[in-house]
Amino acid sequence: MSIKIRPAERINNLPRYLFAEIDKKIKVAAEKGIDVIKLGIGDPDQPTPDYIIKKAMEEVQLPRNHTYPPDEGLAEFKLAVANYYKQRHNVELDPQKEVCVLLGSKEGIAHISACFVNPGDINLVPDPGYPVYSIGTMFAGGEVVSMPLLAENDFLPNLSAIDLKVAERAKLMFLNYPNNPTGAEASPEFFARVSEFARKHNIIVCHDQAYSEIAYDGYKPISFLEVPEAKDVCIEFGSLSKTFNMTGWRIGYAVGRAEIIEVLSRYKTNIDSGTFKAIQYAGAEAFNNSAREGFQAQLSAMYQERRDVAVAALQEMGINVRAPKATFYIWAPIPAGFASSADFVGHILEETGVVVTPGRGFGAYGEGYFRIALTVDAKRMQEAMDRIKKALANR
Ligand code: MLT
Repeated sequence: MSIKIRPAERINNLPRYLFAEIDKKIKVAAEKGIDVIKLGIGDPDQPTPDYIIKKAMEEVQLPRNHTYPPDEGLAEFKLAVANYYKQRHNVELDPQKEVCVLLGSKEGIAHISACFVNPGDINLVPDPGYPVYSIGTMFAGGEVVSMPLLAENDFLPNLSAIDLKVAERAKLMFLNYPNNPTGAEASPEFFARVSEFARKHNIIVCHDQAYSEIAYDGYKPISFLEVPEAKDVCIEFGSLSKTFNMTGWRIGYAVGRAEIIEVLSRYKTNIDSGTFKAIQYAGAEAFNNSAREGFQAQLSAMYQERRDVAVAALQEMGINVRAPKATFYIWAPIPAGFASSADFVGHILEETGVVVTPGRGFGAYGEGYFRIALTVDAKRMQEAMDRIKKALANR
């Protein structure tokens, strides 16, 4: 006789991951023979650059790399991250104490709440936002209090709208600029205000910087750590996934105040055994030789061409959309006549085979919007836009 499977309460409350759900719909459409254009998940369509692959292949062959990686992370990778911060952001980091290697930034973001949040504590979470901020909070028994990101505030949270009692109970504040899903950017003045707020209320700022290297029109995204004294209150998460087309490699990092990094590292050494050494060497190579290869500039130029195609087409359809200065996402209001973002996205998939993400998937304040990921070339993007335009005209 088989036993009764009784998942924990936290699992009973756990939705399926937004992009896993979308993947299921793509599979169904593809099985029906529909030519699907995937503008859903932010997964780069281009390969990892050759210079990184070459380094990984050399390192994979070395038996010294086949053993457990060092608990504290590979010194060469942590040094490469620290050097990147110095060169790119003029921020000094101690590679030993202020850098932690992650199995992708998603992993660190998911686990940071377990490190600092007791049941009943509050985390301040942007809405719309990357779903993992809330999921990690929930796993730790914490309470999510949303910080609405509204168009009228340029998709920045309004700090003065945060209830003082909430601020006193808050342990972590998640932020993410350049922002997923809205494509918004943050100014040094805004980060300085956040830093002051966090110091006043004893809150750790968890800044997700996954899109810092994809930017347009001469804009250079800043690190939260560029703000004077920000390191005192901050852990910043970075990823090689979008920066170097390495989503499948699962490597990222966290940097910031040594005591915060120490807690996350201690937690992680108890539950995972680190990233394969060959991948950490390849990650170090990615940073060390990115300027020589001119990779970042090429990447942004490629996405900019796609962005321009999509924005022009959406505007032509009468959709009031702003061209983002960074990220590879376009955040657009759903056209009139649709009951919800899910209704619009479902209609578009059915009628055109184009997959976009419903804004509601990123939180209640995402309702009324949809997100386009710039993950197909300009020609295919034009094709996607033509199909949407036709579907809307025939409605
Ligand atoms: C996104 O599309 O928002 C992200 O790429 C999803 C992820 O990183 O899991």
